[in-house]
Amino acid sequence: MARRTATCNAPSSPPVQRERTALPSASGAPAFDYGAAFSRTLGWLTEWEQQMLRDRTVAIAGLGGVGGAHALTLARLGIGRFHLADFDRFDLANMNRQAGAFMSTLGRDKLSVVAGMVGEINPEARITRFAEGVRDDNLDSFLDGVDLLVDGLDFFVLDVRRALFAKAHKRGIPAITLAPLGHGVGWLSFLPGGMSFEEYFRLEGEPVERQYVKFMVGLAPKGLHRRALVDPGRVDFAAKAGPSTPMACQMASAILGTEAVKILLRRGRVEPAPVFHQFDPYRGLYRKGRHRGGNAHPLRRLQIAVAARWIARIARPRPAGEEERLSPDAPVLDRILDIARWAPSGDNDQPWRFERIGPLHVRVHVQHEAGANVYEYADGRPVWLAVGALLETMRIAAADHGLQCRWQALTQDRNCIDVVFSPAQGLEPDPLAPFITIRSVDRTAYRRWPLGEAEKRALAAAWGPEFDICWHTAPAERWMATRLNMAATRLRLAIRECHRVHERVIRFGSEQTSEGIPAAAVGLDPLTVRLMRWANARWWRTRLLNRYLGGGALAALQLDLLPGLSCAAHLTVRWRDGRRPRRIADWIAAGQRLQRFWLTATRHGLTVQPSFAPIIFAHHARHGGQCWEWHRTQEKAERIANLADRVHGPASEETVFAGRIGTPRRRIGPRSTRLPLARLWLERG
Ligand SMILES: Cc1cc2nc3c(=O)[nH]c(=O)nc-3n(C[C@H](O)[C@H](O)[C@H](O)COP(=O)(O)O)c2cc1C
Repeated sequence: MARRTATCNAPSSPPVQRERTALPSASGAPAFDYGAAFSRTLGWLTEWEQQMLRDRTVAIAGLGGVGGAHALTLARLGIGRFHLADFDRFDLANMNRQAGAFMSTLGRDKLSVVAGMVGEINPEARITRFAEGVRDDNLDSFLDGVDLLVDGLDFFVLDVRRALFAKAHKRGIPAITLAPLGHGVGWLSFLPGGMSFEEYFRLEGEPVERQYVKFMVGLAPKGLHRRALVDPGRVDFAAKAGPSTPMACQMASAILGTEAVKILLRRGRVEPAPVFHQFDPYRGLYRKGRHRGGNAHPLRRLQIAVAARWIARIARPRPAGEEERLSPDAPVLDRILDIARWAPSGDNDQPWRFERIGPLHVRVHVQHEAGANVYEYADGRPVWLAVGALLETMRIAAADHGLQCRWQALTQDRNCIDVVFSPAQGLEPDPLAPFITIRSVDRTAYRRWPLGEAEKRALAAAWGPEFDICWHTAPAERWMATRLNMAATRLRLAIRECHRVHERVIRFGSEQTSEGIPAAAVGLDPLTVRLMRWANARWWRTRLLNRYLGGGALAALQLDLLPGLSCAAHLTVRWRDGRRPRRIADWIAAGQRLQRFWLTATRHGLTVQPSFAPIIFAHHARHGGQCWEWHRTQEKAERIANLADRVHGPASEETVFAGRIGTPRRRIGPRSTRLPLARLWLERG
């Protein structure tokens, strides 16, 4: 390990532009006094050391997420002189983390904003500004007279970073790089006489993508942050963008402050590269290590190879549905429908097409296949529930534009619904609106954390006074609900009527599909998905696998048993006082409530999986109407109906909704997306 040596700076050349920030001029404002301003640090620092910091110069390259925070921390530490460099301006995407990003500073250059903030803390601070940022032609002046170089450059700026660190190394200037990683930070110090940046990272001659990988692995070989990356799709190496948190940026500057004290005051132990450090408060872990040769170390090479493959895997295009969202300039009707199309529908059938009647008037054409689809029980009840969800979603989306929404079914054609939007004074946005596109079915096991009373009240309120919710939380109740779902799964995997639907709906090969359901989202493990892909292609294979080779039991185990036991509760929703509405309008109203319930759950961080199969089989068992191909099916459906009565209550086929709810183990995963709005406009002719 390199020994720490005295800081040895090259002789100063004239600064580019040096200023002394003026004292605040407001009359009556207390005059600035350095001793008083930084007196509260004394005790952890001696007065001698405080004065040494006042006499030190720190160069900060880049004033964004970490650089801006570094500048403020060092200013509060009482550092007397700064070289600050940045050419960029603040924009909205900086708001989550950058110290100088405020509504009042949008569009302003980062350098003058951050320099102004430093001056507000310490008006005596001398700030040398490099408004063109750090470039090959100003490296010397940027480093002139500098005691410590701090890296605040964007992760993806590697060429300038390499040149800057090389120059600092040559001039004997200590340099430090801190990377905000997830909820924590990884850092490396390069001290005079020790390993250089290039010797550690070995970026020379590598293609740029490989340089990113090597830089990332070198910064944090222990990879503590990896598990924190809940949505890898947000890492976009091609667009040079990655996620960041304000905590990590603040933490980076906190660690920088401590390292700066040690380096500038020549006390404490600084462990320079090849020693690497990572702190992850999310997992409560601090790790440091030492790989001789940095990225040349054999273990590191392996890590780099693995990381490169991982990055190639996650570098996939954003979900189609998201990409195709409309621009803010589109007509308001289109914008409402563009959100409303995210309403849920059975098997993601999206049984609606739109016809533009006027600027604020749309006709919804409901397409349904009652009779042809075994799941469309009771004359297509799931379709009407979905249509209710669509109309409610339109209503919520319209409120964001100050519009109310009225709808009416056409008397001559019950499959057409006219929806008219109109301005409404004082209409507030609906708090459920942000959750419309986020809500999605999670068919995996949830956490068993129970629902709080407040959550249950909110969920019951979403259903409103016409419905009763029955929560099944006791182990015996969960078991009964799970048994019921398992029986329904085994039946539907063994009959041809269901296979016809599965064949059409389940999509293989992609984690997201705009029609139907991606196989990855049905809740089976990857191996069983492969088996299902093989079986699903032919009815005889499905029959062989599920009836005779135990495929149905395997699926029921994964789809129902584990998830059924692992959730906060199962629930049944029924019409209050045993009502049994028959009108389509009632089921549309129930669908509206279903969507409010589902969005309310999403708003509370909960996830929901409907379970309609038992209701459907109970209905067919009691009302007939389906042609059961297999003679034992009717008998089995009747058994399911009887079991359903025990779980949901008598006449279980009238249940409005059944399913399970809980806190998801992850809040992102494979899901169905939607057809783009352009495909939902009715084609005429
Ligand atoms: C009326 C209705 C019935 C549904 N039944 C089930 C069901 O029994 N099991 C299930 O896993 N999902 C069910 N779903 C969820 C849909 O499959 C899901 O909403 C659709 O595929 C879109 O996916 P998303 O909700 O993830 O956006 C149902 C949805 C609706 C509206």
